[in-house]
Amino acid sequence: MGLYSEQVLPRIVNVACASKVVMSQRRRVCEGLAGEVVEIGFGSGLNVPFYPHAVTRVAAVEPADVGWKLGSKRRDATPIPIERSGLDGQSLPFPDDSFDAALSTWTMCTIPDIAAALRELRRVLKPGGVLHFVEHGLAPDEDVRRWQHRLEPINKRLLGGCHLTRPVVDLLTDAGFTLAELDVYYEKRSPKFLGANSLGVAQSR
Ligand SMILES: C[S@@+](CC[C@H](N)C(=O)[O-])C[C@H]1O[C@@H](n2cnc3c(N)ncnc32)[C@H](O)[C@@H]1O
Repeated sequence: MGLYSEQVLPRIVNVACASKVVMSQRRRVCEGLAGEVVEIGFGSGLNVPFYPHAVTRVAAVEPADVGWKLGSKRRDATPIPIERSGLDGQSLPFPDDSFDAALSTWTMCTIPDIAAALRELRRVLKPGGVLHFVEHGLAPDEDVRRWQHRLEPINKRLLGGCHLTRPVVDLLTDAGFTLAELDVYYEKRSPKFLGANSLGVAQSR
Protein backbone atom coordinates (compact mmCIF):
# COMPACT_ATOMS: atom_id res chain seq x y z
CA MET A 1 0.00 0.00 0.00
CA GLY A 2 1.25 3.51 -0.78
CA LEU A 3 1.13 6.64 1.38
CA TYR A 4 -2.17 7.78 -0.15
CA SER A 5 -4.07 4.52 0.47
CA GLU A 6 -2.41 3.94 3.86
CA GLN A 7 -2.65 7.43 5.36
CA VAL A 8 -5.03 9.61 3.37
CA LEU A 9 -7.82 7.34 2.15
CA PRO A 10 -8.86 6.00 5.59
CA ARG A 11 -9.23 9.62 6.77
CA ILE A 12 -11.34 10.52 3.70
CA VAL A 13 -13.59 7.49 4.30
CA ASN A 14 -13.88 8.35 8.01
CA VAL A 15 -15.34 11.76 7.12
CA ALA A 16 -17.15 11.09 3.82
CA CYS A 17 -18.92 7.98 5.14
CA ALA A 18 -20.25 9.68 8.25
CA SER A 19 -22.89 11.91 6.66
CA LYS A 20 -26.46 11.86 7.99
CA VAL A 21 -27.66 9.96 4.92
CA VAL A 22 -24.99 7.29 5.31
CA MET A 23 -25.43 7.00 9.08
CA SER A 24 -29.16 6.31 8.67
CA GLN A 25 -28.27 3.36 6.39
CA ARG A 26 -25.81 2.11 9.01
CA ARG A 27 -28.60 2.16 11.59
CA ARG A 28 -30.87 0.14 9.25
CA VAL A 29 -28.28 -2.47 8.30
CA CYS A 30 -27.24 -3.15 11.91
CA GLU A 31 -30.82 -3.76 13.07
CA GLY A 32 -31.28 -7.37 14.16
CA LEU A 33 -27.59 -8.25 14.50
CA ALA A 34 -27.10 -10.58 17.47
CA GLY A 35 -24.54 -12.88 19.06
CA GLU A 36 -20.97 -13.18 17.81
CA VAL A 37 -20.37 -11.01 14.76
CA VAL A 38 -17.53 -10.69 12.24
CA GLU A 39 -17.30 -7.31 10.48
CA ILE A 40 -15.20 -7.25 7.32
CA GLY A 41 -13.72 -3.89 6.25
CA PHE A 42 -14.30 -2.49 9.74
CA GLY A 43 -12.67 0.82 8.70
CA SER A 44 -12.85 3.39 11.51
CA GLY A 45 -15.77 1.69 13.22
CA LEU A 46 -18.54 3.96 11.94
CA ASN A 47 -21.05 1.12 12.52
CA VAL A 48 -20.13 0.67 16.19
CA PRO A 49 -22.76 3.09 17.60
CA PHE A 50 -25.45 1.06 15.84
CA TYR A 51 -24.53 -2.42 17.10
CA PRO A 52 -27.60 -3.70 18.97
CA HIS A 53 -27.22 -4.74 22.63
CA ALA A 54 -27.81 -8.34 21.52
CA VAL A 55 -24.35 -8.37 19.91
CA THR A 56 -22.01 -10.11 22.36
CA ARG A 57 -18.64 -9.76 20.58
CA VAL A 58 -17.28 -8.35 17.32
CA ALA A 59 -14.27 -9.68 15.40
CA ALA A 60 -13.08 -6.78 13.24
CA VAL A 61 -11.24 -7.51 9.98
CA GLU A 62 -9.44 -4.44 8.64
CA PRO A 63 -6.13 -4.02 6.78
CA ALA A 64 -5.69 -0.24 7.32
CA ASP A 65 -3.91 0.65 10.58
CA VAL A 66 -4.97 4.30 10.31
CA GLY A 67 -8.64 3.34 9.94
CA TRP A 68 -8.38 1.14 13.03
CA LYS A 69 -6.73 3.97 15.05
CA LEU A 70 -9.35 6.52 13.96
CA GLY A 71 -12.00 4.26 15.48
CA SER A 72 -10.54 4.10 19.00
CA LYS A 73 -13.05 6.51 20.60
CA ARG A 74 -16.01 4.67 19.07
CA ARG A 75 -14.67 1.33 20.29
CA ASP A 76 -14.06 2.73 23.79
CA ALA A 77 -17.62 4.08 23.93
CA THR A 78 -19.32 0.71 23.54
CA PRO A 79 -19.56 -2.06 26.15
CA ILE A 80 -19.43 -4.64 23.32
CA PRO A 81 -15.98 -6.27 23.08
CA ILE A 82 -14.39 -5.53 19.69
CA GLU A 83 -11.11 -7.13 18.70
CA ARG A 84 -9.09 -6.55 15.54
CA SER A 85 -8.90 -10.19 14.61
CA GLY A 86 -7.81 -10.20 10.98
CA LEU A 87 -6.39 -8.11 8.15
CA ASP A 88 -7.92 -9.61 5.03
CA GLY A 89 -11.48 -10.67 4.27
CA GLN A 90 -10.19 -13.03 1.58
CA SER A 91 -8.54 -15.24 4.19
CA LEU A 92 -10.23 -15.22 7.59
CA PRO A 93 -8.25 -16.58 10.57
CA PHE A 94 -11.24 -18.30 12.20
CA PRO A 95 -12.43 -21.91 12.40
CA ASP A 96 -15.52 -23.01 10.46
CA ASP A 97 -18.94 -22.18 11.98
CA SER A 98 -17.58 -19.49 14.36
CA PHE A 99 -20.10 -16.65 14.02
CA ASP A 100 -23.84 -16.02 14.27
CA ALA A 101 -23.69 -13.05 11.93
CA ALA A 102 -21.47 -11.00 9.65
CA LEU A 103 -21.52 -7.33 8.68
CA SER A 104 -20.20 -5.63 5.56
CA THR A 105 -20.80 -1.97 4.72
CA TRP A 106 -19.37 -0.50 1.50
CA THR A 107 -16.56 -3.07 1.52
CA MET A 108 -17.52 -5.61 -1.16
CA CYS A 109 -16.57 -2.96 -3.76
CA THR A 110 -12.95 -2.88 -2.57
CA ILE A 111 -11.85 -6.40 -1.63
CA PRO A 112 -9.88 -7.62 -4.68
CA ASP A 113 -11.24 -11.20 -4.78
CA ILE A 114 -14.77 -10.71 -3.52
CA ALA A 115 -15.84 -14.26 -4.41
CA ALA A 116 -13.09 -15.58 -2.10
CA ALA A 117 -14.21 -13.22 0.69
CA LEU A 118 -17.82 -14.39 0.41
CA ARG A 119 -16.69 -18.03 0.45
CA GLU A 120 -14.76 -17.27 3.63
CA LEU A 121 -17.78 -15.59 5.22
CA ARG A 122 -19.93 -18.64 4.47
CA ARG A 123 -17.27 -20.88 5.95
CA VAL A 124 -17.02 -18.98 9.24
CA LEU A 125 -20.77 -18.38 9.63
CA LYS A 126 -22.72 -21.04 11.49
CA PRO A 127 -25.30 -22.85 9.34
CA GLY A 128 -28.22 -20.45 8.96
CA GLY A 129 -26.01 -17.51 9.99
CA VAL A 130 -26.74 -14.14 8.42
CA LEU A 131 -24.75 -11.50 6.55
CA HIS A 132 -26.08 -7.95 6.99
CA PHE A 133 -24.86 -5.78 4.13
CA VAL A 134 -25.15 -2.38 2.53
CA GLU A 135 -23.04 -2.05 -0.58
CA HIS A 136 -22.90 0.10 -3.69
CA GLY A 137 -22.62 -1.66 -7.03
CA LEU A 138 -23.97 -2.11 -10.53
CA ALA A 139 -26.96 0.19 -11.01
CA PRO A 140 -30.39 -1.11 -12.06
CA ASP A 141 -30.56 1.37 -14.98
CA GLU A 142 -28.66 0.95 -18.24
CA ASP A 143 -27.76 4.65 -18.66
CA VAL A 144 -26.23 4.75 -15.17
CA ARG A 145 -24.39 1.47 -15.84
CA ARG A 146 -22.77 3.00 -18.93
CA TRP A 147 -21.36 5.81 -16.76
CA GLN A 148 -20.24 3.31 -14.13
CA HIS A 149 -18.24 1.36 -16.72
CA ARG A 150 -16.67 4.59 -18.02
CA LEU A 151 -15.75 5.90 -14.57
CA GLU A 152 -14.67 2.65 -12.92
CA PRO A 153 -10.95 2.81 -13.88
CA ILE A 154 -10.49 6.30 -12.40
CA ASN A 155 -12.67 5.47 -9.40
CA LYS A 156 -10.48 2.45 -8.65
CA ARG A 157 -7.35 4.60 -8.82
CA LEU A 158 -8.76 7.33 -6.58
CA LEU A 159 -10.54 5.17 -4.04
CA GLY A 160 -8.19 2.30 -3.28
CA GLY A 161 -9.51 -0.25 -5.79
CA CYS A 162 -13.21 0.58 -5.31
CA HIS A 163 -15.22 -1.03 -8.15
CA LEU A 164 -18.45 0.58 -9.39
CA THR A 165 -19.89 -2.32 -11.36
CA ARG A 166 -19.97 -5.27 -8.99
CA PRO A 167 -23.37 -7.01 -9.13
CA VAL A 168 -23.90 -7.29 -5.37
CA VAL A 169 -26.96 -9.55 -5.33
CA ASP A 170 -25.57 -11.94 -7.98
CA LEU A 171 -22.29 -12.21 -6.09
CA LEU A 172 -24.15 -13.13 -2.91
CA THR A 173 -26.38 -15.74 -4.53
CA ASP A 174 -23.47 -17.20 -6.54
CA ALA A 175 -21.61 -17.61 -3.24
CA GLY A 176 -24.48 -19.64 -1.81
CA PHE A 177 -26.35 -17.02 0.20
CA THR A 178 -30.14 -16.70 0.09
CA LEU A 179 -31.58 -13.19 0.20
CA ALA A 180 -33.88 -12.89 3.22
CA GLU A 181 -34.28 -9.10 2.93
CA LEU A 182 -33.29 -6.75 0.12
CA ASP A 183 -33.76 -3.07 -0.70
CA VAL A 184 -32.19 -1.65 -3.88
CA TYR A 185 -32.15 2.15 -4.19
CA TYR A 186 -30.16 5.21 -5.17
CA GLU A 187 -28.66 6.92 -2.15
CA LYS A 188 -29.97 10.44 -1.56
CA ARG A 189 -27.54 13.29 -2.26
CA SER A 190 -25.08 10.95 -4.01
CA PRO A 191 -24.35 10.69 -7.75
CA LYS A 192 -26.20 7.66 -9.10
CA PHE A 193 -23.05 5.98 -10.42
CA LEU A 194 -21.67 5.90 -6.85
CA GLY A 195 -24.89 5.51 -4.88
CA ALA A 196 -26.62 2.48 -6.42
CA ASN A 197 -27.02 0.67 -3.12
CA SER A 198 -28.22 -2.76 -2.04
CA LEU A 199 -29.11 -3.16 1.64
CA GLY A 200 -30.28 -6.40 3.12
CA VAL A 201 -29.78 -9.64 4.97
CA ALA A 202 -28.40 -12.74 3.26
CA GLN A 203 -28.61 -16.14 4.91
CA SER A 204 -25.90 -18.76 4.63
CA ARG A 205 -27.47 -22.05 3.47
C1 LIG B 1 -15.09 2.26 1.59
S1 LIG B 1 -14.26 1.62 2.98
C2 LIG B 1 -15.63 1.21 4.07
C3 LIG B 1 -15.21 1.12 5.50
C4 LIG B 1 -16.32 0.72 6.49
N1 LIG B 1 -16.87 -0.58 6.17
C5 LIG B 1 -17.41 1.76 6.53
O1 LIG B 1 -18.56 1.43 6.23
O2 LIG B 1 -17.11 2.90 6.92
C6 LIG B 1 -13.68 0.01 2.47
C7 LIG B 1 -12.93 -0.72 3.58
O3 LIG B 1 -12.52 -2.01 3.12
C8 LIG B 1 -11.24 -2.24 3.65
N2 LIG B 1 -10.58 -3.30 2.88
C9 LIG B 1 -9.84 -3.18 1.75
N3 LIG B 1 -9.37 -4.38 1.38
C10 LIG B 1 -9.83 -5.29 2.29
C11 LIG B 1 -9.67 -6.69 2.45
N4 LIG B 1 -8.95 -7.42 1.58
N5 LIG B 1 -10.28 -7.28 3.51
C12 LIG B 1 -11.00 -6.55 4.38
N6 LIG B 1 -11.19 -5.23 4.26
C13 LIG B 1 -10.62 -4.60 3.24
C14 LIG B 1 -10.55 -0.89 3.56
O4 LIG B 1 -9.39 -0.79 4.34
C15 LIG B 1 -11.69 0.01 4.04
O5 LIG B 1 -11.70 0.12 5.42
